[in-house]
Order: sequence, then C-alpha cells, then structure tokens
Amino acid sequence: MKILKKESDDILVIASPREQVHVGDYLMAAEPQRSLVMQVYDERYLDVEGIEEEIAREEVLSASASGVTSDPTELATISTLVRDMRILLCKARGTVAGGKLTPRANWMPSRTSSTVTRLLIEDLAGTVEPLGVRDIRLGTVDSESSFAIPAEALDGRITVITGRKESGKSHMAKILLRGLIENRAYAVVFDLNDEYGTVGHRRDGSETDQARKVKVMRPGRDLKFSLSSVGIRPISNLLSHSLDMPGTSLREFVKIWEQLDNRDELSLASLETAIQMWRCNEFVRDALFARYHTLAASGLFTDSPHQQFDLQDFFTLNRSGGALVISLSGVSPLNRKMVVELMLSKLVELLERRKIPPVFLFAEEAHLYLRDTYWEDLITRMRHFGVFTVFVTNQPDAIDQKIYRQVDNIFLYNFSNDSDLTMVSQASMADSDTVKAIVRTLPPRMCLLLGYAVRNLPVVVNVDPFDSPATGLTRRFFSDALEVPPSPKQGLY
Ligand SMILES: Nc1ncnc2c1ncn2[C@@H]1O[C@H](COP(=O)(O)OP(=O)(O)OP(=O)(O)O)[C@@H](O)[C@H]1O
Ligand SMILES: [Mg+2]
Repeated sequence: MKILKKESDDILVIASPREQVHVGDYLMAAEPQRSLVMQVYDERYLDVEGIEEEIAREEVLSASASGVTSDPTELATISTLVRDMRILLCKARGTVAGGKLTPRANWMPSRTSSTVTRLLIEDLAGTVEPLGVRDIRLGTVDSESSFAIPAEALDGRITVITGRKESGKSHMAKILLRGLIENRAYAVVFDLNDEYGTVGHRRDGSETDQARKVKVMRPGRDLKFSLSSVGIRPISNLLSHSLDMPGTSLREFVKIWEQLDNRDELSLASLETAIQMWRCNEFVRDALFARYHTLAASGLFTDSPHQQFDLQDFFTLNRSGGALVISLSGVSPLNRKMVVELMLSKLVELLERRKIPPVFLFAEEAHLYLRDTYWEDLITRMRHFGVFTVFVTNQPDAIDQKIYRQVDNIFLYNFSNDSDLTMVSQASMADSDTVKAIVRTLPPRMCLLLGYAVRNLPVVVNVDPFDSPATGLTRRFFSDALEVPPSPKQGLY
C-alpha cells in the first residue's frame, strides 16, 4: 500500500486487490520518528485514464468471440490487477510517536518513503492508557481478535445504542447489562418487551451466577408504592404533567396532602375522605376526585405495608450488584409514564441522600414513556447524582440533538434510510463521512462503536452471540413455517 494523495482531510491510499483491508480497519503510515494513524472509511476503484474504454472493448470482444478465453502468456493479468486496484479513503486519527498515541494529525507522511501497513486494533489499543480493568467482552475485531470495553467506560457516562429494527440493539444492551452486574454494578431497566428478565440465564435455561441478581417487577402487581414513601414532589409532578391537573386544583391537593401528612394519616383511603370533606369549589373537588380516582385505579399505590415496594431494600438485599427490571409490557401508556416518573424521582431522592450507590439505567424506546422535560434532567442533573443512562432506540430522531451532544458513547448498527443516516452522522462525535459510509454498509451483527469507550477511535465490532434464552422476538403468525404440511397424497398409502 502507498499513499496516493490528500484531498481536504481525506488521505487516499492505493491498495492492490490482494491486500486484506476492509472499511473500518486502521492503517499506519510509518516514518522513522513517527507514524500517522488512519482509518479506512470507504473504498473505490482506481480510475486510470482509458480504463473504461479498455473494459468496454474487452466486453465486446468476449461477447463477439465467445469461447476464446485462454490467455497462455497471461497478458491480461497485469491489466486485471490494475483494474482491480482499490483506493482506500482514509481519515487521519492521530500520531504514534514513542509508542504513544496523540490526537495530532496535522502532518503529511512522505509519499515515497513512508510504508503503509495494517494497524490491528489490539496494537492500536496498546498505544493508549486503558480506561479501566473490568472488561466487558463485546465481540471480535480484525476478524479474530477479542474486543472488550471496560465497564468503567460506561461509568458516569451517557450511552446510546441505535440502529434499524432487529439489528441487535437489545442484544448489545443485554451484553452490557450482564457485564455490569458481573462487575457488581446496579442497574434499573425499563423493559418494554419482556426481554431483560432472563439476562442472567443461559440459552438452555440454566442459571448463570448473575441470575439471582436479576429481579423483575410488574407495575400494579408486585410493584406498588405507598403514598408516604413516594412523597408530594413526585406526586405533584405526576399530577401536573402526566394527568394535566390545573394549578388551582393542584394547590388544593397539596394542602390536603400536607394536612394528612402532618397528622401522619397519609393513605389512599384517608385521601379520598379528605377530598370529600374539603371546603372548596365544586369544580375543584371534581378535578381532585377525577385525579384521585386515576391514581387509585392505576393499581400503583397501596396502603398495605406488605405490598409496598421499597427501592432501597433492593440495594441492601443485593450486596454484590443487581438488575431491577421494570416490566412495562402490558402496562397502559399512562401507567408507564407514572411508574417511570415515580421510579426516577425515588432513585434521585435516594441518591441525593446517599442511601444508594450510583445506578445504570437502561431505557428502551424512552420517548414512549419519558416526558420531554425528563430527557435533559436525565443527562444533566440525574447524571450528576449518579444515574447513568443507556438509551436504546431504533428512532434516532426520537433523541434530541441537544441530548446527543452530551452523549459519551454511541453504539451504531446499520441504517440504510438516508434521513436516519444524516441524523446519526450529525449527532455522533466522529466525522460524518466516516459514520455515513461505514454505517450504510455495516452487515448485520456488526456495530460501529464511537466515543469515550474507544477513545474517539471508531471501531467496527463483530458482536458475539449472547448466551441467553431467545426473548423479545416479534410474534409471528407463520412461526412454524418449516413444518411443511403433509401433502394430501401421503394419506392414500
Ligand atoms: N451478534 C449477534 N449474534 C447472534 N445473534 C444476534 C446478534 N445480534 C442480534 N442477534 C439476534 O438477532 C435478533 C434481533 O436482535 P435484537 O432483538 O437485539 O434486535 P433489536 O435491534 O433490539 O430489534 P428491535 O428493533 O425489534 O428491538 C435476536 O434474535 C438476537 O438474538
Ligand atoms: Mg430491541
């Protein structure tokens, strides 16, 4: 391989067809003192003058004199090789000098004396300080070498996993989740499709060491809150935002609540009686009752001390980390919003009071249950308190550009739709040429990893299979397609 030329910030490298280099691979242009690290983001044929004419002429010849294919002196070989020469479009990613990588890339290696070779990810990783020691294996790179990211790369960070439908996003989220709890971390998962409950199990159904650390809770069934444990702040947020309660009624509600709270009589039953007895306008009373009934009918609240869920207990009972999976499938959209808001406010309250350690939050398709104002809250205020979110979505435009700017790690799967591609390429921290070209051609089960976890050196990972029972699969009508119905003839004999 040789450097051919530089066009704006692209470096063009010429490679023979035998050279095993693919899009996403790293190259190194080595000079005696330093080497320029480049990444191939696209490839094209070498266009030599007159090549199209030559190909056309050959095509015409072979069509008109079919059968004459032998070429004993192999005259065609050189010309074939030239025609198959590739130009690799590369972006400079940094300079290695004295075995250390620096992001400086503002120099041009010599076209004549520099030697261009493959740089394996393993060797590239050796030129930077590791981010941590708790490795989570994701898959392979450079066709066979193992690739892992340190759990520390997710700690205190915001992560997005995105790609088109069925590309493997939840699969990646599960790998990360298992890796985190193996390393004694805590996670809360908002699970829309009932797929995370088995994250601790193997494909054959047997349990891994992590299985007992995973607890699935179903809102309204085993996930119920007491009014007093929730507190007025989350409840009034819920009433005004999710249940559209007007300010006047809300003020009355807060007064009633405070009165009951001061008397230590806070319960669903006493709240109902208090609203009945409260001296206020009939319209206000109606509004209060309507909201009260929605809260009561949601099944999320209980007066019974045995049925109440205590979030702090989950942490005290699981000393070596664990995942709390909130199953949101089969829960009405309104109840989803309420559960998510209650859980988040409870988490933040406990974190604020330093009652629990920081938590990783896995949120699938969060736009379905997260109120607009919560997004920014999650990535700013909540992150500071210790909620580190992993957003999983197949709609990259559901996440605002403002949020992308705060994101530290992006796992990108294939997108072929142009508008999605433009969106993710603008949003991600790598240059948009790289993201667009690589993501468009990413085969299934391969993922482009960008950001902090890979030190801003984009890496294409061939993701491992995940040893857990198949869940979250879309239900199919023709699910037993392989069982061909017996042909009518068979019955005759
Ligand atoms: N690296 C992989 N190796 C083997 N199987 C995989 C891999 N990645 C994904 N799969 C399988 O492909 C299927 C789809 O993956 P997954 O459910 O993670 O996709 P998704 O992007 O979350 O889809 P959706 O948009 O429907 O939520 C699953 O059956 C999963 O087990
Ligand atoms: Mg999924």
